[in-house]
Amino acid sequence: MSPEIKPDFLISPEGLRVDGRRPDELRPIELKVGVLKQADGSASIRQGKTYILAAVYGPRELHPRHLTLNDRAYLRVEYRMATFSVPDRKRPAPSRREKEISMVIANALKPALFLEEYPKAVVDVFIQVIQADGGTRCAAINAASLALADAGIPMKSLVPAVAVGKADGQLLVDLGDEEDKYGQGDVPMAILPQTGEITLLQQDGFFTREELIEAMQMGINSCKYLHELQKDALKRVYVRNPEDGEDDFDDDLEADLGESEIMEDE
Ligand code: CDP
Repeated sequence: MSPEIKPDFLISPEGLRVDGRRPDELRPIELKVGVLKQADGSASIRQGKTYILAAVYGPRELHPRHLTLNDRAYLRVEYRMATFSVPDRKRPAPSRREKEISMVIANALKPALFLEEYPKAVVDVFIQVIQADGGTRCAAINAASLALADAGIPMKSLVPAVAVGKADGQLLVDLGDEEDKYGQGDVPMAILPQTGEITLLQQDGFFTREELIEAMQMGINSCKYLHELQKDALKRVYVRNPEDGEDDFDDDLEADLGESEIMEDE
């Protein structure tokens, strides 16, 4: 990987960002559901160069037992970065940052889940950052909520998340790594689109009251767009596309009906 060089500017004279995006433009996003065979539910996300896998196991028996909650399932989230996911090798032991982000992600996801349906059990969410290029906690929430849906965990809603930040005095959605490192701050947020509930809101850096309100509005708009992408990713796996295979489906159905008629005749 080429050594990192601080860019001369984060916003060009034409008002574009280092990667050519407009201030309210997300990075290219690719969401996939059901990517891991062993997990009960899984998903991957590519958001620009950030690449993350999420795997869900459970609901299942909780060990160690002293963590048991009598009235609901325990949502156990483990966010980890691969040693090779960042320019400097990341030490393999869990860092304080990883522990804090795990907690923040669990708190962002919990309001979307009907955990009370599985008292005493655990739902494990493992998040692996394969490549980090900014915005990993939000991308992780996008993938983890899809993996939870894939595992069949009862949910009120998917949870879209995005970070809005500021660079050269301009508010920007979905910060890349350079914008995150050399910008003036960021506000990661997650919402439940159906209710408008905000389940993650953090702030790093200085924002005026007006900037914060505008940043949140930009974040909510981006989250609504991300929510559509999440639903599309689920539909690609769970809803049969009439354009590829409706005829086959009808043929199969007819064949089945034909067989049952023959059986009745006999
Ligand atoms: O990823 P996110 O913005 O949610 O969290 P952060 O703590 O604000 O980190 C910002 C970015 O710094 C990450 O996305 C990584 O690209 C980078 N980073 C790194 O290069 N090395 C680390 N040990 C941690 C983060």
